[in-house]
Amino acid sequence: MALRQQLQHQQRRSSYADSAPRRCVQTRRPSRCTRLHVSAGGKVFIDPVKNECAAFAPATVANLGPGFDWMGCAVQGGGDTVVAKVIPGKPGQVVIEGIQGDGGRLSLDPAKNCIGVAASETLKLIGDVSCGVSLTLNKGLPLGSGLGSSAASAAAAAWAVNGLFGAPVSKDRLILAGLASEAAVSGYHADNVGPSLLGGFVLIRSCAPGQPVELLQLPLPPAARLYFVLVNPRFEAPTAQMRAVLPKEVGMKAMINNCCQGGALVAGILRGDVALIGQSLDRDVIIEPVRGPLIPGMLAVKQAAKEAGAYGCTISGAGPTAVAVVDDPAVGARVAEAMCAAFRSAGGLEINTAQVVELDHEGAKFV
Ligand code: HSE
Repeated sequence: MALRQQLQHQQRRSSYADSAPRRCVQTRRPSRCTRLHVSAGGKVFIDPVKNECAAFAPATVANLGPGFDWMGCAVQGGGDTVVAKVIPGKPGQVVIEGIQGDGGRLSLDPAKNCIGVAASETLKLIGDVSCGVSLTLNKGLPLGSGLGSSAASAAAAAWAVNGLFGAPVSKDRLILAGLASEAAVSGYHADNVGPSLLGGFVLIRSCAPGQPVELLQLPLPPAARLYFVLVNPRFEAPTAQMRAVLPKEVGMKAMINNCCQGGALVAGILRGDVALIGQSLDRDVIIEPVRGPLIPGMLAVKQAAKEAGAYGCTISGAGPTAVAVVDDPAVGARVAEAMCAAFRSAGGLEINTAQVVELDHEGAKFV
């Protein structure tokens, strides 16, 4: 295929509206135009095209009730930013220069930090690079919040490092870098990092370790009036711990229920039926009943959200953020108030943030 055709083909594959399955297979061949040089020893290196590149990646709401580990969406209203800079002459080296907004809690050791792992995996996906990278992270999302905090950091790091080299790796393939990063810090799941990179609703059709990753972007009809109410209480629910409590096996009745609700959720998204989306995410009988009691006040919050006019409410990701769905921002404001009050009175928790936000369609972007 001619280079021009190949580029057009790749651009088509990366467009938001493309809802065909995306397969991500790891290779070491750069997939777009890159700047190369040949060393004195005859080895071909890929050079950066700029000295510095900054990227932002949005918060995400994973699971959406019955979609545990296979459904997530990107939302507006917050995210993480990573600035990547070239370290000349240190091929593949990754250094974390600084982190702001984490209260000094995250490690600067690149092997123990999600941005370090994502950056290093991104360099491997690009190929034989001629330099290293240094990273600075600005955390806009609270840690352990249920808003895909580690995934947003990983997605921003992968996109910023990729940008240094002229973005040779498509977002589809960068999921592999994000997955490696998630596996190192919270568990092998793509339902945060997928939407944080790609934007919109993303269904993870397959992502078993060692297997090709297959993602489906689900386009929400533009006319849909979909708003998420996100209430983040002052309480931490580390994903690894919230995964450890889950059952290893589920009964037939629960499986049938969650398949029905998951199917209805997908139908709701594709039809732009906000009521169906909300009602479906409200009816998970496998994960929420186990995690809910570990988040003080969660049951009361769910009830309060619906009494105030939400179509449904559940735990965002592994929690503790609660997410409710409405079709009107004014109703959203009332629902947010009711959810905050319930977290305070029934859970004894203070509130970090309460927001009414829309879907983010873009995912990771250069800033
Ligand atoms: N699917 C993951 C979980 C998302 O619920 O553990 C974590 O944000």
